[in-house]
Amino acid sequence: MALLLKVDIDRGDAWQKALRACLPDMTIHEWPYDGDPAEIEFALVWAPPRGALRRYPNLRAIFSIGAGIDHLASDPELPEGVPVVRMVEPGLTAGMIEYVLLAVLTHHRFMLDYAAQQRARIWREISQIAASQRRVGIMGLGVLGSAAADTLIRLDFDVAGWSRSPKERTGITCFHGRDGLFPFLARTDILVCLLPLTPETDGILDARAFSALPSGAALISIGRGGHVVEEDLLAALESGQIGSATLDVFRQEPLPEDSPFWTHPRVILTPHVASMTIPDSAAAAVAANIRRLRAGQPLENAVDLQRGY
Ligand SMILES: NC(=O)c1ccc[n+]([C@@H]2O[C@H](COP(=O)([O-])OP(=O)(O)OC[C@H]3O[C@@H](n4cnc5c(N)ncnc54)[C@H](OP(=O)(O)O)[C@@H]3O)[C@@H](O)[C@H]2O)c1
Repeated sequence: MALLLKVDIDRGDAWQKALRACLPDMTIHEWPYDGDPAEIEFALVWAPPRGALRRYPNLRAIFSIGAGIDHLASDPELPEGVPVVRMVEPGLTAGMIEYVLLAVLTHHRFMLDYAAQQRARIWREISQIAASQRRVGIMGLGVLGSAAADTLIRLDFDVAGWSRSPKERTGITCFHGRDGLFPFLARTDILVCLLPLTPETDGILDARAFSALPSGAALISIGRGGHVVEEDLLAALESGQIGSATLDVFRQEPLPEDSPFWTHPRVILTPHVASMTIPDSAAAAVAANIRRLRAGQPLENAVDLQRGY
């Protein structure tokens, strides 16, 4: 039996090496695979073409290379009854903590303003407030959002979180559900979006959401591009309602050359790299789950496709 691997071409070797170390008895075939489809027992994939996984009659689990599974859930021809597992691994979580910290501190410490001042040779202090007075709001208190929140709390930020179901977390002011969204936004100076993309969260960051934030709030968009209504964000940046933004994900990726975000003076932009799955630690997580399945135990981090995450 074998595992089918579909990753970026330049990461194939690192994945092969990591998987072989954790699963020495498993045959690994890289995409595209033209051999016997009956051989494939597991798929470890990013964005397979629509319907492509139906080819494998003995598929027992589909592992997403990334934390988000929207690239699989959006396939109406995904094989029925095969569990889908999202990526939860320490390397991905550590990378996301770093990015959130970097972005929150960038806005908290006015680094966009200082960079503009540097270009204009202006020596001017901007009055700073303490972290304890800076209200950070994290949309999505899952694996990544919770880890980021815990780190920000340690730096004394005033942290709130918004999730689908009610939560109680030490040090985090928790809001949930549609009723909790606007009170959550109203107390948020720096908004971090770490939601999954689902029919419920598509377009959630629109003009209404932006106007519910305090004037001049910062946005850190690192969940999925589909969360943001981009024209509403541009209008909010123009009016100053959103004072600055860090954008890692976009509705269309790669971001088109003519996108106004490329040159917007109040935007820092990265090409969907907030965090990456690290093959060594991720292969260990996948292997542990395969062993669990073989031992007749339930898979960890299997998603609910109906719910979308
Ligand atoms: N830019 C990047 O490089 C990058 C890298 C990795 C991940 N991501 C993105 O980050 C997302 C989150 O990853 P994760 O591992 O933290 O996911 P997760 O553990 O599944 O957590 C998702 C969180 O979102 C909340 N949520 C889902 N739907 C909601 C809704 N309709 N209203 C309110 N809250 C809702 C969930 O609420 P409950 O707790 O109540 O279920 C949960 O707290 C991924 O789906 C992916 O899109 C981006």
